[in-house]
Amino acid sequence: MPATRDQVLSSVWRDGIFKDKVLFCTGGAGTICSVQVRAFVILGGNACILGRNVEKTERMAKDIASSRPGSKVLGLGAVDVRDAEALAKAAERCAKELGSIDFAIAGAAGNFLAPISQLSANAFKTVMDIDALGSYNTAKATLPYLVESAKKHRNTGKAQPTGTGGRIIFVSATFHYTGKPLQAHVAAAKAAVDQIAHSISLEFGPLGVTSNVITPGPIAGTEGMERLSKQDDATLKRSKASVPLGRWGEVKEIADATIYLFSEAGSYVNGHALVADGGQWRVGGAD
Ligand code: HXC
Repeated sequence: MPATRDQVLSSVWRDGIFKDKVLFCTGGAGTICSVQVRAFVILGGNACILGRNVEKTERMAKDIASSRPGSKVLGLGAVDVRDAEALAKAAERCAKELGSIDFAIAGAAGNFLAPISQLSANAFKTVMDIDALGSYNTAKATLPYLVESAKKHRNTGKAQPTGTGGRIIFVSATFHYTGKPLQAHVAAAKAAVDQIAHSISLEFGPLGVTSNVITPGPIAGTEGMERLSKQDDATLKRSKASVPLGRWGEVKEIADATIYLFSEAGSYVNGHALVADGGQWRVGGAD
């Protein structure tokens, strides 16, 4: 049966699709995650964002809340994703103050460029701990709430008045698809992140929870791209030319992918890595 007009129109980017739903997002004050959260809030939801920097996290929470009058956005600073207990407490507080956790984004990440010859064991471990262990801790802290939410929403794909819930997204990268110079630590960590996400899709799928990965490519305005923007014109040109679409992505394009996976439109997507990189990894990644 083709989708009816009502089914199509009730699908995505409709005002209020996340009404009364709550998103828990680690790294939520960062360039990409803050825009993912903002889109969710504009579409009717409330959110709890977490970060290590108290001032930055609280300021971003206020800023996101101002994008929809009446929304609630909790900014919990001084939470390190490497600390499982701190994350569990944060999830408990989020559910208590906002009513539930229906969606989660494991977005906290650490990165720097370093050749293996100059990468100490502790440097490697630090990024593994923030990205891989931190994503695992985020999932562990939120899954009990996501299971509860999934019970209510069932992720059936039918347009339901109650909307969707019980979904987790991991923010990853494409470095581990091809290997990447100066990024052995991040490539290893993101490979682990993908596999954590996929294992969850199998273990929690039967409980109605969906688990997916979004892998941003070169996105304008992010820390890494800002650094690259300060390089000479030839380097910049080469970077953009390395993307088949011929340009860097916009944060909004990652938010759009997020809303798709959280909305009715993404109800049958589970265990997937949605690559939003303009096709760059297919030609071997950036040079
Ligand atoms: C070599 C380095 C280094 C560098 C740190 N280290 N920076 N080694 N080159 N540039 C080493 C340190 O010397 C130390 O090893 C070890 O890493 C731990 O460093 P700390 O500073 O003690 O760690 P910590 O305070 O926990 O900071 C974590 C961090 C930091 C990852 C190093 O950069 C950070 O907090 N970053 C968060 C913000 C961030 O990175 N944002 C970008 C996310 S974007 P020794 O041996 O000296 O003890 C992202 C993109 C993913 O992740 C891909 C998207 C496409």
